[in-house]
Amino acid sequence: MKFSKFGQKFTQPTGISQLMDDLGDALKSDQPVNMLGGGNPARIEAVNELFLETYQALGNDGSFREDINSTATSSMANYSNPQGDAAFIDALVGFFNRHYDWNLTADNIALTNGSQNAFFYLFNLFGGAFTDEKSESVDKSILLPLTPEYIGYSDVHVEGQHFTAVLPHIDEVTHDGEEGFFKYRVDFEALENLPALKEGRIGAICCSRPTNPTGNVLTDEEMAHLAEIAKRYDVPLIIDNAYGMPFPNIIYSDVTLNWDDNTILCFSLSKIGLPGVRTGIIVAAPEVIAAVSAMNAVVNLSPTRFGASIATPLVENNAIKDLSDNDIKPFYQQQAKTAVTLLKKELGDYPLVIHKPEGAIFLWLWFKDLPITTLELYETLKEKGTLIVPSEYFFPGVDISDYKHAHECIRMSIAADKDTLTKGIAVIGEVVRGLYDGAK
Ligand SMILES: Cc1ncc(COP(=O)(O)O)c(C=O)c1O
Repeated sequence: MKFSKFGQKFTQPTGISQLMDDLGDALKSDQPVNMLGGGNPARIEAVNELFLETYQALGNDGSFREDINSTATSSMANYSNPQGDAAFIDALVGFFNRHYDWNLTADNIALTNGSQNAFFYLFNLFGGAFTDEKSESVDKSILLPLTPEYIGYSDVHVEGQHFTAVLPHIDEVTHDGEEGFFKYRVDFEALENLPALKEGRIGAICCSRPTNPTGNVLTDEEMAHLAEIAKRYDVPLIIDNAYGMPFPNIIYSDVTLNWDDNTILCFSLSKIGLPGVRTGIIVAAPEVIAAVSAMNAVVNLSPTRFGASIATPLVENNAIKDLSDNDIKPFYQQQAKTAVTLLKKELGDYPLVIHKPEGAIFLWLWFKDLPITTLELYETLKEKGTLIVPSEYFFPGVDISDYKHAHECIRMSIAADKDTLTKGIAVIGEVVRGLYDGAK
């Protein structure tokens, strides 16, 4: 069978397809696998209980039974309009205005089938071929101000790849009074001097905060600076808030969340523990919401209402925020501590530095001068039943052939239970010690 160019692009092997396959295979495998590779959220007792109660209530409240003429907006027996479930959107408007005073209306929110779906829309809306005022074609890209960045962005453009990325400053820092950590910071000098920015070839700026894969949280100063640059160049600032405030709030540094008309904020229900319901939320200017709704109509008819139905009461009564603050965030903070202690025990005498854990559900490990690439390390660890993700995948828009750092890091999930973390880190320790020792 012959596939179109579009078909060929979307069927070629990609980092994200390998990651999702490994994840699925590990979950199906009858061999024990130390799964430190995927982006699945942890099983947290309090979270499961609340969702179970909510599912049960949903089954009893008529959500599945409304007939076609019903005006009930939460009914799963009807499609919503392409913008998404109106009751959930109204609940979100109230929630965000209560907590952030953003003065949103329903015209500021659209739902998508997961935020990955939102990035597919947004990166194709703002990256690719444009026609300028002189009717000439301009190729615009998405500016990633701080790579490494989320693996799932890399392949979403319908044609080609349209990213311009800035490599980070790397600062050695302490964490909880201990040495052996580093933090990435935006290199604003490099960013401001990008020819693509100055010459009008940037369509939007985007960052994940907290960042997947590194657990970095861009500071308020960095965010304010990015927002100012975005306004100056008249492009939107897209903030991927999949791990951020107010839910799931897996963020340990003291920062704030802002929104204005030039900001596109993307939220998700996945990391509060519901990746299977595929619900993403976009908060943006009405013009962007109208565009996303139109794309929803073509791609999905209307976005799924299941996640919306579960989350509506939790947003109305703030339980989603309480759960995030009191259960989800402390859980991951403790997991990060446990993983750091285990790593220091295994590799404390070796050239391992860890990105300061500031949020998200990962640790980012840098093995300085590792004798092999982390792509090769990934294969060795996989053979020994431990899955991580090598750093090579996290540099969309960068030619990493001469950038050593991009071959020396791995992302490891901290969502696994303590036994899996301990076993997986023991395997990483054994393999990495062997590599350094063998190179002496
Ligand atoms: C930073 C980031 N953005 C977006 C997504 C997509 O999440 P979803 O489509 O499940 O909402 C993920 C998933 O891992 C992520 O880590």
